[in-house]
Amino acid sequence: MKKNMTSTKLIQKKINGEKISALTAYDASFAGLFSAQGVDILLIGDSLGMVLQGHDSTLPVTVEDIVYHTKCVKAGNQGSLIISDMPFMSYSTPEQAWENAAKLMQAGGNMVKLEGGKWLVETIKGLTERGIPVCAHLGLTPQSVNIFGGYKVQGREEAQADLIIEEALAVEAAGAQLLVVECITSKLSQRLSDSLSIPVIGIGAGVECDGQILVMHDLLGISTGYIPKFSKNYMAITGDMHKAIASYVEEVASQTFPGPEHSFN
Ligand code: KIV
Repeated sequence: MKKNMTSTKLIQKKINGEKISALTAYDASFAGLFSAQGVDILLIGDSLGMVLQGHDSTLPVTVEDIVYHTKCVKAGNQGSLIISDMPFMSYSTPEQAWENAAKLMQAGGNMVKLEGGKWLVETIKGLTERGIPVCAHLGLTPQSVNIFGGYKVQGREEAQADLIIEEALAVEAAGAQLLVVECITSKLSQRLSDSLSIPVIGIGAGVECDGQILVMHDLLGISTGYIPKFSKNYMAITGDMHKAIASYVEEVASQTFPGPEHSFN
């Protein structure tokens, strides 16, 4: 990738109907590989608590963990937009969010990601005013797994879907420049993509989103144990890491991935 990806370019991609590709990355080597293959966004996700640290949830991840891995990704990146996740309870007040988000930006992030909707309006406004771009995360928000009672598809009922739309409009109005939605129905993704001006990036959310994100361990077949229905092991299909990434980027662009078998109706 020659030129740096920016949030302005991502919005332009949405306007042009070009799909956005994103992957999680946690170190310099994979960041270099993914960005060289044209992946638009690299997310230092708190999923690292599960895929790198071996925990059964993302809750144990700390700001220091994300700072360390953001520095690694920044060192290998060749032009993708870097988003750093804000871990569980690192943004429970606006002031705490501003202080911790600054650490992630100073480590090399271009944007921070927070899980939640309306309750984050003041936090998102404050971050944006202070020069920190925000990606919001709605639908299945893994930091709230103990409230949800498990990793369940969200927005199946009309009232719940309407609430997610309201939350999305609220975070966009507060200044969020991107929205990640996880494990929601394809119908709701279509409504979200149509209702918002900012790009909607989905994981387990159907091809109707403006872009897709996968956890790199799922794409490369490194994950063991539970493999989510929405993921696709491109390594098993291509047998080569470079081809696996290229194939993912191409299938997102051509809207071949995700197929109905990776989506929820
Ligand atoms: O932590 C993470 O990797 C994420 C993605 C699943 C979107 O939030």
